[in-house]
This record gives sequence, C-alpha cells and structure tokens, in this order.
Amino acid sequence: MCGITGIVGRSRNDIGRILVECSRKLTYRGYDSVGVAAVNNGKVDLRKNVGTVDAVDSELGLSEMIGDRGIAQLRWATYGAPTIINAQPHFGCEEVFYGAHNGNLHNYYEYRKELVETGHIVRSENDGELCVHAVDKYYESTGDMFDAVRFSTRDLKGAFAFAVGRADEPEIYAVKMGSSLVAGIAENDTIVSSDLPSILPLTNNVLYLQDSEMVVLTPDEVKVYRVEDGKQLNRIPEISNVDARAAEKGGYPHFMLKEIHEQPQIVRDVMGLIQKSKPEKWIQMIEDASSRYLVACGSSHNAGIVGTYFFNRLAGVPITPVIGGQFEPMCGNTLTDESLCILVSQSGETKDILNVLNHVRNNNLGKTLGILNVVGSTLMFNADSYIPMACGYEISVPATKTYYSQSVIFAYLATRLGERNGHLDSQEAKQFIHQLENELPILTQKTIDKTGILTKDLARTLMDTPDLYCLGYGLTDGVAREGALKIKEICYNHCEGMYSSEFKHGPLSIVTDGYPVIFITTTEDSWMIINHINEVACRGGRTIIVGEREEKLEPYVANTIDYLEVPSSSPLLNPLLDVIPLQLLSYYLSVDKGINPDLPRNLSKTLTVD
Ligand code: F6R
Repeated sequence: MCGITGIVGRSRNDIGRILVECSRKLTYRGYDSVGVAAVNNGKVDLRKNVGTVDAVDSELGLSEMIGDRGIAQLRWATYGAPTIINAQPHFGCEEVFYGAHNGNLHNYYEYRKELVETGHIVRSENDGELCVHAVDKYYESTGDMFDAVRFSTRDLKGAFAFAVGRADEPEIYAVKMGSSLVAGIAENDTIVSSDLPSILPLTNNVLYLQDSEMVVLTPDEVKVYRVEDGKQLNRIPEISNVDARAAEKGGYPHFMLKEIHEQPQIVRDVMGLIQKSKPEKWIQMIEDASSRYLVACGSSHNAGIVGTYFFNRLAGVPITPVIGGQFEPMCGNTLTDESLCILVSQSGETKDILNVLNHVRNNNLGKTLGILNVVGSTLMFNADSYIPMACGYEISVPATKTYYSQSVIFAYLATRLGERNGHLDSQEAKQFIHQLENELPILTQKTIDKTGILTKDLARTLMDTPDLYCLGYGLTDGVAREGALKIKEICYNHCEGMYSSEFKHGPLSIVTDGYPVIFITTTEDSWMIINHINEVACRGGRTIIVGEREEKLEPYVANTIDYLEVPSSSPLLNPLLDVIPLQLLSYYLSVDKGINPDLPRNLSKTLTVD
C-alpha cells in the first residue's frame, strides 16, 4: 500500500518529470491520490489530488514541476478518505518541511491530539502528515535535521517508512521502520523508494535497507545510518539484474493479460531455479518439523490450500493452511521450537505475514521458510530460508503468475518429500517431476490457447450476473477459491469460492432458474463432484464446468461455452491448469464491464498495514 519516491539530483531541473516517470512504476501500490513536492530555489511547490498518476499529472502538470529534488507519493487510503487534503506529501506547520509516508501509525489518534495540543497545525486526517510534524517538532528542539528525523521515530508507533526534507536544506532523509525502502545511486541523482521498479528508470545500483535504518540523500551519495544511535553503517550497493522492461506491457492491453501469458515460461523458470538451488534443505525443514503451517493471504492463501492437498496426496504429510491475520489468534499458542511456518507472499511485505514472522522469531517458536517473489523484501531478509517464485515483476494488482508459481512449487516440494519419506515410489515421483518440468509448460500454453475465446464468450453472458459461485473438490478446492477471488476482485460481481460438498449445507438455497455455478474438477474427482453438479442442475441452476473433457459431465452443460475444457493430462496437473480459464474469464469479464483489471478500485498490491 502506498508508494513513496524521493529524488535528489545534481544537475536536474526537471524533477517533476522524473518523479512522475518513476512513480508511475509504483501505481500497483496505490492509486487513490497522487502528489509531488518539488523544491526549487528554497521553495516547495506542492501539487496533489485524488486520481491516478496520469490523471493528476494532466490536471496539475506534475511533470512540468521544476527543481532539483522532491518527493512523490501514491496513496492507498487507510487513515482519512481519499481526498485532496488527505493526499500526500504533506507540509509541516509551515511550508518548510515536506514529506510523505507508507504504512500505518498505530498511535495516530493520541499523537495527533498531542501535536494539536502543543500548537501544531495538522490539516488532514492522514497519519502520513504526523511523520512530517514529528520531524518538525524535533527540529524545533535540536535545530538539526539528522537528529530530528532520528528522534521523530521515537514518537511514531507502527510499521511505516517515510521520506522528508526541508525547503532550505539540500538533503532528503528517509527512514525504514517496518515498511519496505530501497535506495539507488545513479550518475547524477540519488533516489529512495518503496520498491525497486521506480528506481530502475534511473539506475540498477541499489541498496536494500533494513528496519530501523535511515538514509541521507545528497546528489552524490546515499549514506546509511542506524536510527537508534545515529551510527553510520558501511553498506555496499549491489547491481540489480531485474530487467526494467518487466514493468512494461509489452504489447498487451493490460499487465494482467501479459502476466497470464507468461505462465508457461514461469513454470520453466521456477522448476529450473528450484532444482538448481539444492531444494533438499527445504524438504528437510518440512520433514523435520513436528507441526507445519502454510501461512498466506488472498491468492497466496488459495495457492496454499492447493499446496495442502498436494502435501497430503503426494507425501502423506499434514500441513495446516492459515490466513496470515488469523494465525496468531488461531494457532499462535500451538507453536513449539520444532514447528515450521511456511510464509507465502508475492511481495514479501504483507504486514499480516510479517506479523507472523516476527511472532515466530521473537519467541523462538521454530523455523520459518519464506516463499516470495520480490527479491530484497523483508520476508527474504528475515526468514530462516526462502524459495524465490522466479516470476519477475507482477505489476497487475490481481495475482496470476505468482499464484501459478506457488502452486507449482508446492507440487514439486510435496513430490520430493513423498519420494523421500516413501509415500511415493521413486518412479512415480520422477514421472510427476518430469511432467511438471516438461509437460506443464506446454499444457499451460495449450490451455491459454484453448480457453481464450471460450472465456471471452462466456464472460459476455455473465455481464449482468450480480453473483455466482465457484465450487471445487479435493485438489481444486483452492482453485475454486482463487477463481472466485479473481471474479470479485476485478469484475465486482459477488462470487463465493467454496468446497463443493459444503454447498448443500446452506448456500444451495440461493439457486433459482439460471443461477450460475462454476464447478472445477480433476478427472480423479469428477465422480464425486457430479453429485454436487446434480444438486444444482436439478434445481434449474446453470452449471458451468472447468476441467478435462469427460463424457459423463457433458449432459450438465447447456452451451458449448459452459464447458471450459483444459487439455488432457494427469489428474495431478488438472488443478494447475484449471485456474487458467478462471483467470481469463475474470479478465474478459472485467474488460467487458469497462473496468481496468490491473487497477481494481479500493485495492493495492502490497498491503503493508494491519
Ligand atoms: C489477489 C491478490 C491478493 C494478494 C494478497 C497477498 O489477486 O493479489 O489477494 O494475494 O494481498 O499478497 P502477498 O502475496 O504479496 O502477500
């Protein structure tokens, strides 16, 4: 949520243009409002409004702002409605201090009250403004920006990062206190940002910051300090090999469609990487644990559900899938020093997941294994070990290729664990790994090709459907939930994903003539799911099927488009392939409804708040 970018340039006078260009790459973090504070000749020009970068730029001319340094912010609203007054950056009491944050302050109400009572002019209801006032407050007593920024963190409780400057001082300061922050050193500029994509237009010479660290940006260098005692740290920048073109649409109308089409290659990449990375250590961690949890949110949780079934089916090993925010109240007291938490997060910054990571680490409650996509994320640096998803940037807010990669990783780990503990015979295990490596990429491509047109046609018939269900059984349980999440997330149709045998225990009452229910099946489970299809069909419901072509399923579809057929393969590959038509269906439905699937309303891709 929210993205900040701060730049200090040596010979630059077009700070607006470059801040807009860099910030555009952070759009996935928030698009409720945008603002730029640019400093020119000791005066701060602050322009901000609700809307996307492009909309606010064309309205307020952000790109034309001049100066040699500045801070931009893209907001995903939490504290305070998405209004111009709550948009960031903010000024301090006067138009001297300027700054913006990402994250949340837990002591917002008390601290705002305290500031107001001591004479601070707080204009908004946004917690980011308090960061600027905190610096303003400590500057009053110290007369020194470095100390003021450092001391301000003593007043601010929560997980956040902020960038701040003074009109009459050439530096920009930034601190990382729980939210992500990366710095970059370019030839004529230095930059600090919530994430790498906005740094790459300037440089790939980067520094990943750790919590409780602070940076001071001058045109020539980025100095890193420990917040606690102000000690300078010797941190060597590294060259990022992430291709900046990953953040381009590459000819596709939306990132989401591009990312769906990247999935065949993702399978190749992740299978190649994981096998090269000596995966035995991860399999050992899973095997050695006395209790295992798969902790994730949203799409990553849905992939975790698929994973749980794989571990049961292929390795006979129980793993409990738990939603990140639910973990402590539900399972926190059951952890021991022999437990394993597998923390799955595309961003590696999701606060609900980092809370679990901290709970485990602070109380010495066993081990953590991260499965993450963003290299340099907090999860990567702090988990005992991590597996990369190898997806490159996923820009579109709805997860597609990272969900896919996660499911493949679970299938692989479960097979290797099953081979090792004797649940699978070695031949069987080798054959499935061979299928994952060699057949799945081709089958994934075939599924995209085969279901593209069908899902487009099907989407048109669901345009006016206010709500629907996606039901799965066994290995397709998580797939049904993922399909439903995609539909509600980017199409705004209410769509519930649930276990098909559970539907009769209440939800079935919603079915009337023509009510659509999508059933997702493997060839192994179709004998069972047919019962659940019947329960809907005999009440006049419209049954839509996702799975391989099976004669016994054909009588249940009224039109060709209601059978989203995936190519034939092994039943164990079915859950991987079945998700693709659901991704495509949600994509086309979203586009048909005039929604931008990359930027669904109210959402942000990186949720660094509780
Ligand atoms: C849905 C989606 C979200 C994320 C969730 C977790 O399409 O993208 O549900 O899956 O916010 O994010 P990560 O995986 O970054 O922890």
